[in-house]
Amino acid sequence: MNELLKQDAAALETLLEKVKQKGVQYLEQINERSTNAEQVPVIEGHLPATGVGAEATLYEFYRRFEPLMVAAGGPRYWGFVTGGATPAAIAGDWLTSIYDQNSFAVKGQGDISANIELETIQLLLDLLGLPGDFLGGFVTGATMSNFTCLAVARQWIGQQAGKDIAREGLHMPVPVLAATPHSSAIKSLSLLGIGSSQIIVVQTEEGNRESMQMADLEKKIEALQGQPFILVSSGGTVNTVDFDDFTAIAALKKKYHFWWHIDAAFGGFAACSDQYKQLLKGWEDADSITVDCHKWLNVPYESAVFLVKDRHRLLQVATFQNSNAPYLGDPLENFSFMNFLPENSRRLKALPAWFTLKAYGKNGYKYIVENCIALAQQLGNYIEVSPHFELLAPVRLNTVCFTLKNTATENDTAAFLQELNSTGKVFMTATVYKGKKGIRAAMVNWRSTAADVELVISLMEQLAAKR
Ligand SMILES: Cc1ncc(COP(=O)(O)O)c(C=O)c1O
Repeated sequence: MNELLKQDAAALETLLEKVKQKGVQYLEQINERSTNAEQVPVIEGHLPATGVGAEATLYEFYRRFEPLMVAAGGPRYWGFVTGGATPAAIAGDWLTSIYDQNSFAVKGQGDISANIELETIQLLLDLLGLPGDFLGGFVTGATMSNFTCLAVARQWIGQQAGKDIAREGLHMPVPVLAATPHSSAIKSLSLLGIGSSQIIVVQTEEGNRESMQMADLEKKIEALQGQPFILVSSGGTVNTVDFDDFTAIAALKKKYHFWWHIDAAFGGFAACSDQYKQLLKGWEDADSITVDCHKWLNVPYESAVFLVKDRHRLLQVATFQNSNAPYLGDPLENFSFMNFLPENSRRLKALPAWFTLKAYGKNGYKYIVENCIALAQQLGNYIEVSPHFELLAPVRLNTVCFTLKNTATENDTAAFLQELNSTGKVFMTATVYKGKKGIRAAMVNWRSTAADVELVISLMEQLAAKR
């Protein structure tokens, strides 16, 4: 055996102990850690013939990269939609690496990790109040979940015309209706050959809304004259967390012939709260749903779930089957995730989710969700009466979308955001909402508290007063 591998194998406990100590230290101090990277590391691309061993590599990591790691899992990282990682999720994630299973087959392919994945999906469906007739699996993020769901939708469209698009290729237009789809759904349409410019845009409701106008949706459906189509709806738009009317869409589903997809990447977790779950009423009738676990479930990247109605199982296998490799078995006889999603080999992504679901249960998630919503409202209430800022939309759930008041130029908003972020105390991201430059703060982290919001409000006050 290579000498360095031999040495490291013998010193494994010391190595992992050091990683543990440093990791715990980082997590215990995450509230104080900067949310902003001030420099980028110099890239050193030369690989020597002889390595340095794991411990020396660890020291190099700590010297060069660790000081630049931002508190992305901390309580004031409110950019994009960034979840943290619960203690149980971190434990599950470590174990995922230690056991290093290849999660694809339920039986007969060497390991049982796919059974853990199937159980985790059931737990998640229970948490979200969804029925058990969805077949789900883990992918890297909501982008890949949207891709997976829309790939099956594309296959369904082909089936309606007697075509097998997975085999024959896409030789037909695929009508897609949507009002405010997430950029990742649009990207998925590009990847799937449907074409991002093919979306038939449904008007949004009047009065500062991003949800689709049902009358216009029906008008656009009628214009298709019975042609099957895909409807991409939102279970929480990314700027203002507006929800499409799922009860009304479910009613349309009885009247028209379409595939109904919901991108509920983070908004789906509203189902954890009795107070907010009505936003999702009717979503159980969708053909497919995207839910992101590295957002409000607070598991480490990369973790999201696709949910596709079980009745579409054959279409899903037709889309993703890996059948030209005889050693992997018949896709219809032996259940194997590789025939249901884009990847073949994959890590046991479900384990961190399984840990956190078991550890905190429904009440834990009700707390996380309701706490984040209360914090967004706290920030929103401040902005509503502030002489310096204005809300671009009401705070509907966990996201605050706002801008500066009385600015000389639109660039002032970007300059303010840069100043705010460079304090390293908070991180928000820029957006454009209805043509206006704005700022978004999205709260989905289990660590965030009212004191964090107070701290950010006082920073915003100080910076705005100086302008
Ligand atoms: C509604 C929605 N869909 C999809 C995505 C894409 O998620 P991911 O970055 O996990 O691929 C996001 C990310 O913020 C989102 O908010």
